[in-house]
Amino acid sequence: MSESRMSDKAVLSCRNLGKSYDEGPESVQVLANLQLELQPGERVAIVGSSGSGKSTLLNLLGGLDTPTTGSVWLAGEQLSALGERARGLLRNRALGFVYQFHHLLAEFTALENVCMPLLIGRTPIPEARERAEALLKRVGLGHRLSHKPAELSGGERQRVAIARALVNRPGLVMLDEPTGNLDHHTAQGIQELMRELSSASQTAFLVVTHDLNLARQMDRVLKLEDGHLVAI
Ligand SMILES: Nc1ncnc2c1ncn2[C@@H]1O[C@H](COP(=O)(O)OP(=O)(O)OP(=O)(O)O)[C@@H](O)[C@H]1O
Ligand SMILES: [Mg+2]
Repeated sequence: MSESRMSDKAVLSCRNLGKSYDEGPESVQVLANLQLELQPGERVAIVGSSGSGKSTLLNLLGGLDTPTTGSVWLAGEQLSALGERARGLLRNRALGFVYQFHHLLAEFTALENVCMPLLIGRTPIPEARERAEALLKRVGLGHRLSHKPAELSGGERQRVAIARALVNRPGLVMLDEPTGNLDHHTAQGIQELMRELSSASQTAFLVVTHDLNLARQMDRVLKLEDGHLVAI
């Protein structure tokens, strides 16, 4: 296959991915020669101890950070071959991302935060509002539409971030500890939503988690260990 294109229908793949941090007194090799491929509709969990490099990996796969070695293909496009602007457009179109620390816009309401990716993609405002509201209701926040992030609990902020990641109906959603602040019942609702979207819309999910209950319900579980992913 050509270097700049993926030959198959994978929504995400990476080859020989490596990351080391060279600032500071010593070089830290976090990831080395890592391979991963996700097909449409696949749900994959990544587990691993604190500091093993899970967030680093997600940031590389999502194009938020640059690898030291290797390449990432997202929706068929090689990230390193794209300029800053093209990469941003691709991410807005093809990827939903839930950060470990939610990154909501503080001055906007829950509803406005969820509308944002749609408005960036030029969806008309009434349609954006309708879709954002439906998703917020789906994650149990129909009564918190006009609250700003500071007026929401940790778990509520997390659910706003999840709704925001889903609103553009991307082919792939990456979530970093999405259920960390959620009670069992609410976490279960998020799991059901993922299952539903993966079978109904072929949305793929890549989830970093310490929640073994969540990991167990995915199609595959991979452990990040010594810079590599191993199947468990
Ligand atoms: N900018 C940086 N400079 C130097 N080292 C870094 C930097 N960012 C992360 N690291 C190191 O890389 C390692 C992996 O960090 P990362 O945040 O990916 O871990 P994690 O698996 O997500 O952990 P957690 O489960 O606690 O969220 C850590 O040891 C961390 O100290
Ligand atoms: Mg992390």
